[in-house]
Amino acid sequence: MKKMEMIYEGKAKKVFQTDDPKLYIVDYKDDATAFNGGKKGTIADKGVVNNTMSAIIFEILEKKGIPTHMVKLISDRETLVKAVKILPLEVIIRNVAAGSFSKRYGVEEGSSLAKTILEFSYKNDALGDPLINDDHILALELATEEQLAAVKKYAYAVNDALKEFFLDKGLKLIDFKIEFGLCDGEVILADEISPDTCRLWDVKTNEKMDKDRFRRDLGRVEETYQEVLARIKR
Ligand code: TMP
Repeated sequence: MKKMEMIYEGKAKKVFQTDDPKLYIVDYKDDATAFNGGKKGTIADKGVVNNTMSAIIFEILEKKGIPTHMVKLISDRETLVKAVKILPLEVIIRNVAAGSFSKRYGVEEGSSLAKTILEFSYKNDALGDPLINDDHILALELATEEQLAAVKKYAYAVNDALKEFFLDKGLKLIDFKIEFGLCDGEVILADEISPDTCRLWDVKTNEKMDKDRFRRDLGRVEETYQEVLARIKR
C-alpha cells in the first residue's frame, strides 16, 4: 500500500491518500492540544499508544457487530482505514458526570447520573464545537434522519461494549467522544478511541487515567498513557 498525498492534518493525526481511492492511512502524532487548541504540548509516544489502542478496540467493536473504518495496523503509528467522509459531529456519551457537563450544569465530577447521556457537538473549530441537538443537526443538514438514528444506535452499542471491556482492565468509563463517517453511503465508526477521547478512572483509586492529566497539569502524563495501553494489552 503506497502512502501518497496528505489530505488532512488535524490536531492529533494526519490522513494520507493511498494508491487505492477507497483506503486512507492515518498517522498518529504526539501533539496534544486542549481547550480548542488554546493549550499545546507533546505527550511522548502518545501516537503509538493511541494508534495501538484504537486498533485493538475497533477490532473488538467489529466483533460486536459495529461497523468501523479499521482495515489493519501497518506500523506503530499508522493504520490503514476505509476512506470515509466524516460527519461533522462529536458524539459524546456520559456515564458519570465530569468535564464540561459538570461545569455547565453545576454537578460535582464523579456524581452518578440517573440516565446515560448522549450529546452532540457540532465539529467546527472556528465555532468552538458548540453543543447541538437532533433538530439542529437536521436543520443544518449535518446528517439525515436515518444517519442520525444509526449514529445513536452505534454510540450506545459502543458504550455497552467499552464499559465492559474497560472494567475488565480496572478502568471505569466515565465518558467518551466518537466520530462517524460515511462509506458507500453507510454510517461507520471512524476517528480514534484512546485516552485522548475517553475519560477513564481507576476503579480502585478513581485516579484519572486519560488526557485530563494533560489538560489539568496533573503530572505523570506519559506514564499514564503507557499504563492504559499495558492494561488493555493484558
Ligand atoms: P467534555 O466533558 O470536555 O465535553 O468531554 C467529553 C468527552 O469527550 C471526554 O471523554 C473527552 C472527549 N473530548 C474529545 O475527545 N475531544 C474534545 O475536543 C473534547 C472537548 C472532549
